[in-house]
Amino acid sequence: MKKRTLGKTGFEVSEIGLGCWQLGNDFGPVEDSEAKAILDSAAEQGINLFDTADVYGGGVSEQRIGDWLKTQKTKPVVITKVGRGGDLFPDGYNKNSVRKSLEGSKARLGVESLDLVQLHCIPPEMLKTGEIFSWMEAFQQEGLITHYGASVETIEDALVCCQSDSLATLQIIFNIFRQDAVDKLLPIAEQKNIGIIARLPLASGLLSGRMQKNRTFSAQDHRNYNSDGAAFNVGETFNGLPFELGVDLADQVKTMLPSDMNLLQCSLRWLLDQPQVSTVISGASSSQQVISNALTSDLPPLSQVLSAKLQTFYQEQVRQHIRGEI
Ligand SMILES: NC(=O)c1ccc[n+]([C@@H]2O[C@H](COP(=O)([O-])OP(=O)(O)OC[C@H]3O[C@@H](n4cnc5c(N)ncnc54)[C@H](OP(=O)(O)O)[C@@H]3O)[C@@H](O)[C@H]2O)c1
Repeated sequence: MKKRTLGKTGFEVSEIGLGCWQLGNDFGPVEDSEAKAILDSAAEQGINLFDTADVYGGGVSEQRIGDWLKTQKTKPVVITKVGRGGDLFPDGYNKNSVRKSLEGSKARLGVESLDLVQLHCIPPEMLKTGEIFSWMEAFQQEGLITHYGASVETIEDALVCCQSDSLATLQIIFNIFRQDAVDKLLPIAEQKNIGIIARLPLASGLLSGRMQKNRTFSAQDHRNYNSDGAAFNVGETFNGLPFELGVDLADQVKTMLPSDMNLLQCSLRWLLDQPQVSTVISGASSSQQVISNALTSDLPPLSQVLSAKLQTFYQEQVRQHIRGEI
């Protein structure tokens, strides 16, 4: 597993990280033993960055990671989020309530200081006041958090966050079906030494190579209840694409690939070919998925011909179908 520097944090993190939303039972129940197996497999593969949030399973994801951390000799980097739990979202933000949420995360993770806390899709109006960034800087000075970043829905929100000088990282929706950041954000992030954390690398599984139109999802899974944006941002689940169209588009990408590469490898490798990406946080519902995803760090870059084809395909066939603001 290769490592990269995570923006201003200076942490050396694995190119492939682990998204831990599923560990909150938010995609359907996950047994404790299965959660532990997923985390163990990740560590065995050299993954040392784990992304969670206070709201995943109402704290269950953080608690599971915290329990698991106690069993680890080498401590990985655990990055969490604040801003969607308690009474904060959408307009209850104040310094004390943010602090309370952070203290909850700290207790569940069992750490002295939170490695990196990301503002979790905070409403743009709140980001624009700049106030919340100054609170995070104060928490950093107190030692409650070590670094802070932001996880955002749109490039516009990302650009607002870039105005904060101490912002260490940005987590964005980024994948071969969502390429706008390449020109519109990555150069600025690089200039400001903001590490890019790529989320939804597989467009909620569309780009795994395994997705089929007859697939069904459990009632708790956002791919069931939010496939058309009924519960939260329409641009998040399946990358904002209507599910069946997304499966068709993914099948079309498969026809562009060389015989020794599958769609999963192409999708994760495309992200790693962007030098500003510090880490790619793919979710995984099994240890086997963790292993397949981790192995893409060892693959060579995509050919220039394939990268150019993917860019054209995105512009001509995909972009117009993404719902919500990019
Ligand atoms: N607002 C935010 O800040 C925000 C929002 C969303 C996500 N996130 C973070 O981003 C992480 C990743 O998001 P995500 O899990 O929704 O998206 P994703 O990584 O694009 O998709 C993950 C899904 O793809 C499938 N998959 C993964 N590896 C596979 C493999 N090797 N073979 C076949 N299928 C595979 C699995 O689904 P099945 O096995 O169930 O098909 C898995 O649940 C989350 O865990 C979370 O940490 C943050």
